[in-house]
Amino acid sequence: MKRIGVFTSGGDAPGMNACLRAVVRAGVYHGIEVYGIMRGYSGMIKGEFVRMDSASVSNTVQRGGTILKSARSQKFMTKEGRQEAFDQLTNHGIEGLVAIGGNGTFTGATIFEKEFGIPTVGAPGTIDNDLYGTDYTIGYDTAVNTALEAIDKIRDTADSHDRCFFVEVMGRDSGYIAIPCAIGGGAEIVMVPETAMSVEAVIESLQSSYARHKTSFIVIVAEGEEEGNVHKVAKRVKEAIPQLDTRVTIVGHIQRGGSPTASDRLLASQLGIAAVEGLLNGMKNVMAGIVDRKLMYTPFDDTINKRKVINQSFMRMVEILSV
Ligand code: F6P
Repeated sequence: MKRIGVFTSGGDAPGMNACLRAVVRAGVYHGIEVYGIMRGYSGMIKGEFVRMDSASVSNTVQRGGTILKSARSQKFMTKEGRQEAFDQLTNHGIEGLVAIGGNGTFTGATIFEKEFGIPTVGAPGTIDNDLYGTDYTIGYDTAVNTALEAIDKIRDTADSHDRCFFVEVMGRDSGYIAIPCAIGGGAEIVMVPETAMSVEAVIESLQSSYARHKTSFIVIVAEGEEEGNVHKVAKRVKEAIPQLDTRVTIVGHIQRGGSPTASDRLLASQLGIAAVEGLLNGMKNVMAGIVDRKLMYTPFDDTINKRKVINQSFMRMVEILSV
C-alpha cells in the first residue's frame, strides 16, 4: 500500500485532530502518502482530498474539533453515492482508508468494502464512549470533564438557592457520560437509558432526601433516557413535589468542543498509529481500540452489533454516595 486516505465522520470529538496527526505522521514514518478527505463521506464523494505531510498537522494536537471537518452523509447511504466515492478514490490512487468516527462511520465503511474492496481500519472518535471493542473512545474523557465543570458551577447556584437542578448530558442512547458526571459531580440521582429508573423512583428518592433535610439536589439525565427528555422528567417531579424549586440545564454541544485532555491525546495518538499499522498489515473492517490496557483490533461487525455494558456497580455508587 502506497497511498491512504483519512477522514473524520459523524459527531466531532476532542482528540480527532490528535488522531489525524498520528495517522499522518505514522504514514510519513512508514513511507506512505496520506490524503486527508474533507467532510467525511460527503467529501469523499466530491473528491475533496488534500495531500498531508508532517507539517500539515503541526500545532493541531491540542486543538478541539476536526481540521478535516465532519459530516453525516445521506448520499453515501446510497449505492450511487458509494460508486462516486469509489471512483474518486481510484482516480486519486487511494488504496486504503483510516476512518475516525463512530458506529455510523464503521457501518458505511463495512458496506463500502464489501461492494468495492477498499479496506478501512477505524479509530473510535466519539464523545459517547458507546463503542464495543475499546474501553474508552477518543473525546470521551474531555467531554466528561467539560460536563463536570458545568455541573460544579450548577451546584454552586443550586446550593445558594436551595434548588433542584435536572441536568441533561449527551450520550445519544448511552449513559457513559452521565454516570461519571453523577459520581464526580455529587449528584443525588442519575437516569440513563441502560437502566429502567422510573420518574416515580426519582420522586421517591428526592422525597426521602428532602426528609433528611437536604436542600439542594442535582439529577443527571442522559439525553437518551427512556422516561422522556429532561424537561418532561422535571415537570413530573415538580407536579409531585410542588415545594421543590426546580430548574433544567442542558449542557449540550459544549461537551463536543475544547482542547482534548492528556488522556484523550494519548489515546488518539496511540490509536491513530495503530490504525495505519493495521492497514499496512493487511487488516480491514476492524477498529483499533484499547481493552484492559492492551491494543486490540475488533471487527466492525462487533463494534456495530455488540453493546458495551455499563458497569452496574457505578449505579450503586451513586446511591451510596448520595445518602
Ligand atoms: O455522537 C455524539 C453526539 O454528540 C451525541 O451524544 C448526540 O446525541 C449527537 O451527537 C448530537 O448530534 P448533532 O451534533 O448532530 O446534533
